[in-house]
Amino acid sequence: MAKNKRPISVIDSGLGGISVLGHLLEELPSEDFVYFGDTANAPYGSKTTEEVLTLTLDNIKMLEDEYYAKAVVIACNTATGAAAEKCREIYSHMPIIGIEPAIKPAVTLSGKEAPRVLVMATPLTLSQEKFVHLAEKYNPNADLIPLPCPGLSQVIESGGDEKAVVTLLDKLFEGVECHNIDAVVLGCTHYPLIKEYIAKYFPKAVIYDGGLGTALQTKRRLAEAGLIEADKKAGKLTIINSAGNTEFASLANKYLRKI
Ligand code: DGL
Repeated sequence: MAKNKRPISVIDSGLGGISVLGHLLEELPSEDFVYFGDTANAPYGSKTTEEVLTLTLDNIKMLEDEYYAKAVVIACNTATGAAAEKCREIYSHMPIIGIEPAIKPAVTLSGKEAPRVLVMATPLTLSQEKFVHLAEKYNPNADLIPLPCPGLSQVIESGGDEKAVVTLLDKLFEGVECHNIDAVVLGCTHYPLIKEYIAKYFPKAVIYDGGLGTALQTKRRLAEAGLIEADKKAGKLTIINSAGNTEFASLANKYLRKI
């Protein structure tokens, strides 16, 4: 099959990457997509960097061997931080696009001299060198407040029931002066799926995530590599997961409608 006709693979530990897939479908409507959630190994955020690296390399291999992926979008901040660099070295023949917490727009677009920016992410994302460097870059111009959110992606995986989400958010935001926050960065791709609940805690804040930026970057990278599907047909979406969870696709579609 001509290379540009092959699908783009979008990967995450579970349903989080759906928040990126929504933008990808809009930006690249003629492309075929294979969305893969590694539900058998979720959550990634409480694993080690080495574990997430091994899982991500194995998943990309499977998607290239079995689905002939022409490009991979790592729609997971945790896996991008742990594995994107190594994946690009090993799979240098295909575009590998990652996502990182949207700190840059949160700081530069705030219009404030030293905005207070809350960065919500998994414990592993916030402990990685990649995040420490990113934070150092913007820290002189902003007051960055990293907030590890253990357990939050799992509540979303279980369907995002309002009561369960709000109970956990109450606990996570306990020590945060929510009314003084200027911007909130959703540094885990699961969190935009419950954005409406998070927004209620922050009366003054603008909320940022990297979904659209990643979709636009994917479009650029595909164009540079000559891999855009030229036929103006409607693309096909395939949704799979590593646990053989039969409800996964219907939950994915429910979240997709929110993006
Ligand atoms: N969606 C993932 C992220 O963006 C990780 C969630 C998890 O598995 O802990 O970081």
